[in-house]
Amino acid sequence: MTKVKIGVIGGSGLYHLDHMKFIKEIYPETPWGYPSSKIIIVEDSRGFQVAFLTRHGIGHKYNPSEVPSRANIAALKHIGVEIIIAFSAVGSLQEEIKCRDFVIPDQIIDRTKGIRPSTYFEGGVAAHVTFADPFDSLLADIIYSNRKCIEEPENSENDEQYRPKVTLHRNKTLVCMEGPAFSTKAESKLYRSWNCDVINMSVLPEAKLAKEVEIAYQMICMSTDYDCWKQDEEAVTVENVLKNLNQNVENAKKLLSEILPDLEQALNDGKFENLKGVMKKSCITNSK
Ligand code: ADE
Repeated sequence: MTKVKIGVIGGSGLYHLDHMKFIKEIYPETPWGYPSSKIIIVEDSRGFQVAFLTRHGIGHKYNPSEVPSRANIAALKHIGVEIIIAFSAVGSLQEEIKCRDFVIPDQIIDRTKGIRPSTYFEGGVAAHVTFADPFDSLLADIIYSNRKCIEEPENSENDEQYRPKVTLHRNKTLVCMEGPAFSTKAESKLYRSWNCDVINMSVLPEAKLAKEVEIAYQMICMSTDYDCWKQDEEAVTVENVLKNLNQNVENAKKLLSEILPDLEQALNDGKFENLKGVMKKSCITNSK
């Protein structure tokens, strides 16, 4: 069976890793059904493999409330994934986070409506995973330390029209809303008053499920709009989101390529071993 330790989940706009060599595709059925799409195994120039899954399915057929997140995370776990780097488009709630900037959040506020299945522990087994720090700080450190490749692209003249120079922000708060409609102005202003920095519809329950199966998880957000709080800006539209994403997808791939060697090294050094076994302590059901 294929064992691949690094999983990448692509959000809107990032539907394949076509800069890497295709190895094979797999489509495992899990107790929670099939994942959003086939999992594509790709390899970098050093032969290092990554399992890629597109969150919204081929042709973007699942809206955020419909994504089969339990199947997605279970399928990645099944093939041996220990680390997930998840990409997502986000709206910016702060002036300094400009369109096409990247953001590594460290906190989440949940504004989903409880309609998304968000745990593996139910039907006779109760567990309460610790979710105080929803993301993995070592992954965040690795991503942040590689930011130069997008903040100061080489070859800037040719490259910049495809890879605009951007800033990578870290330690930000991500609010996850239900959708599929975007927020009202009052909601957008409310989230700003809560000191939220960016907004999306996709980090939950993905991040919670990854914790439950002891996978280190970090989301990389790509800012596509100012939601609808900013007076002199047009309110978010799908058209604007896609336009900014398409201009930024090369930066996402570049950043991923840069961090892969460091991820591989951290895995080889056993840096993610501390996650193993945490769920044993989170289970409250007495098995006797
Ligand atoms: N994804 C991209 N932009 C967004 C926004 N403004 N609100 C929610 N999700 C988003």
